[in-house]
Amino acid sequence: MSNSSQIEMNDIQGLILRGYNFPHIRYIIFSIKNTDGAKQFCADLASGTAPGGLSITNAEPWENMEKPDYCLNIGFTYSGLEKLIGTANSNAVERHSSREVFKSFKKGAVEDAGQMGDTGESAPANWWKNGGWIPKEVPTANGSELHIQLTLFTLTPENREKYYAALLGMITETPSGPAVIPVYYQDSDPITVDGNSDYVHFGYRDSLSQPRIDDIIWEKPKMRKLMGISSIDDRPKVPLDRFVISQKAKDYYAHTLLVNGTFSAFRLLYQDEAKFNTFIHSNTEISPELMAAKMCGRWRDGTPLVVSPDKEDKSLGEPSTKNFNFTNFNYLTPSPNQQGDQSSDELALKCPYAAHIRRANPRDDINVKGNDDNAETHRIVRRASPYGPVYDRAEKPGIQRGLVGLFIGAVLDFQFRFVTRLWLEQGGFRNPDASPNYSGVDPIFGPQADDTSPDNFVFAYNENGTYTETPNLTRFVRTDGSLYLFLPGISGLKYISQGIIPPPLTVN
Ligand code: HEM
Repeated sequence: MSNSSQIEMNDIQGLILRGYNFPHIRYIIFSIKNTDGAKQFCADLASGTAPGGLSITNAEPWENMEKPDYCLNIGFTYSGLEKLIGTANSNAVERHSSREVFKSFKKGAVEDAGQMGDTGESAPANWWKNGGWIPKEVPTANGSELHIQLTLFTLTPENREKYYAALLGMITETPSGPAVIPVYYQDSDPITVDGNSDYVHFGYRDSLSQPRIDDIIWEKPKMRKLMGISSIDDRPKVPLDRFVISQKAKDYYAHTLLVNGTFSAFRLLYQDEAKFNTFIHSNTEISPELMAAKMCGRWRDGTPLVVSPDKEDKSLGEPSTKNFNFTNFNYLTPSPNQQGDQSSDELALKCPYAAHIRRANPRDDINVKGNDDNAETHRIVRRASPYGPVYDRAEKPGIQRGLVGLFIGAVLDFQFRFVTRLWLEQGGFRNPDASPNYSGVDPIFGPQADDTSPDNFVFAYNENGTYTETPNLTRFVRTDGSLYLFLPGISGLKYISQGIIPPPLTVN
């Protein structure tokens, strides 16, 4: 936890800086029953020295590039952190951190639900109830018993069971029972289409675009070549302090405990595939595949619409699935590595303004124009994966499936909260519109329960200069659970496991 500019890969949790690409995942939530025992559990996870125990995976490169048997990462809710370090220490961390860094984390996902569109069926009173909840008692609506979130990544389902058992074996027994108990878990297994295992429900290929983080070893051309990834990437680099908390960041400050850590929203999102499927088939003048592509901004195989507006193009190499612009404004020329159609899509003829990827990362679009900082500030590292079986039209109703995982950024207010509230869930994303665009909300999510704007119930996109409209856009994604988490650095975790905090940074 030094203040040197060197990146302390051994202190930063691995999942912040790298997608492990492990197929079998278990997301677990623990409740603390005995604080001293919970501290011991955290200490053992930080040191990795408990016999037969597991340790938290850091960001150091793996020896000989060989994947370990498992990876494990940890996050704390505010109530979890407060239990472990005490209220006075939690207040001290808050006092020495900027409002944007700590306030929303402290408030927590339950209190923030209304702002994030978690209303109606998605309201906190309904969370954690659709499978995966372990105790006999129903979950409380304020989530105060949810303290620690662990994510276990393994290469086989058998190893998931083996390492989960080892993890549970690390829990201290106290006279009144285990010091921490698992209250919820959700497994994630890959969905494979045409040999590619990066698919999510609704039938899209995912894991194509993550922020290009400045300075980290994975981005160095030599390392990318070793990992079999194209070394060509012309997207703007996002400073590391957007994802790893630093005391040298330009627009926030943070208590020393937070250094090398980050924040994240853990989201359990149910996807209503039957409804989604009905919607994409509802306009008989448009093929369901085109409709699905216009809603996402990519064809289901991942081909970006701005690069190939009329069809999937499997010949496109890796650089062009990421390296493209919507309007070519900032560069005046298209992204140098953009293959296929390079014309500017100012009028959203190719990719609708409302499309999920155009609003989740507008790149050079109007919201970013004249304010380059937006392209860096509002980025999110996504570590989410599918759960539940692949949709079958003949299935019985009530099958649970969706996307679960972490949406990571050093400042929730600039990253997850900003993107969700202002770009995904709110209408009028692009203002002023260069041409009418009725699709107010992100069509992958659909209008919220309390939405009254009729425009938000129509999905419209511009085709050959005219608008094609499909009515009855409805909510396809329901929030079934959410936590705001602090993911400490390894030395931060050691402090937490002792119930103490380091001194705050003193500025001379
Ligand atoms: C069930 C819900 C969701 C589904 C089905 C979904 C699906 C997708 C798909 C298919 C892509 C394109 C693949 C890629 O570019 O890597 C994508 C990209 C993306 N999504 Fe989502 N997503 C969901 C929720 C979210 C949420 C909650 C957020 C953030 C709050 C988010 C933020 C993003 C971002 C930032 C990108 C990358 C855009 C880019 O860089 O071009 N998504 N999503």
